[in-house]
Amino acid sequence: MGVLIVCESSFGNTRHVAEAIGAGLARRGHQVELYPVERAPREIPDDVTLLLVGSPTHNMAMTTAETRAKAVAEGAPTAPTIGIHEWIDLVTPRRALLVRTFDTRTTGAFLPSAARDAARALKSNGFHGAKTGQSFQVDPRTTGLADGELQRAHEWGMALADLDPGPAGTTPPTT
Ligand SMILES: Cc1cc2nc3c(=O)[nH]c(=O)nc-3n(C[C@H](O)[C@H](O)[C@H](O)COP(=O)(O)O)c2cc1C
Repeated sequence: MGVLIVCESSFGNTRHVAEAIGAGLARRGHQVELYPVERAPREIPDDVTLLLVGSPTHNMAMTTAETRAKAVAEGAPTAPTIGIHEWIDLVTPRRALLVRTFDTRTTGAFLPSAARDAARALKSNGFHGAKTGQSFQVDPRTTGLADGELQRAHEWGMALADLDPGPAGTTPPTT
C-alpha cells in the first residue's frame, strides 16, 4: 500500500505517534509518507491506498485557531498555521479511499476525541471510507506520552498493514 499520514501537533506527541505508526507500516513493507498538516497535499496522490489523519484532542474535538493559540500560551513550541479540520475542508475527497483517524488526549476513552470528530468531518466531506481509529494517551502531569503508547502506535501501524484497501483504493474519485 501507499500510505499517506497527515498529522497535526503542537507539543510533539501526535507527531511522535504518527512516526511510530508509520514505522510499523514501513516495517511491514509499505511505502509511507508523513506530512505535517500545513504542508499536506490538497490532492491525494493516486498511488495512496491508505490515508491516516492524526490530531491532538482540544475541547473533546479537533483543534481550532483559538485552542491552538491556547496551546502556545501553555508552552507549545509552535502552532500549526492550519489544523486538521481546516485541511479536511481543503482536501479533494476520494470516496472509496480507506481512511483511519487517530488522536492524542489526556482524558479517558469514554469521552469524545479528535479522532471521532475527524472521522465524522471526513465522512461528511466525501471520504466515505473514513473510520475512527485509535486514541493515544498523553500524561497530563508530564505532558508527554504515557508509558507504552509509542509501542502501541507501532503495533497499530503493523496491524493497519493487513487492511485490505480493495480495488477501490486505487480508483480515482468519480465525484
Ligand atoms: C486548549 C487545549 C484543550 C485541550 N482539550 C482536551 C480535551 O478536551 N480532552 C483531552 O483529552 N485533552 C485535551 N487537551 C490535551 C491535549 O489533547 C494534549 O495537549 C495533546 O494530546 C498533545 O498533543 P500534541 O503534543 O501533538 O500537541 C487539551 C489541550 C489544549 C492545549
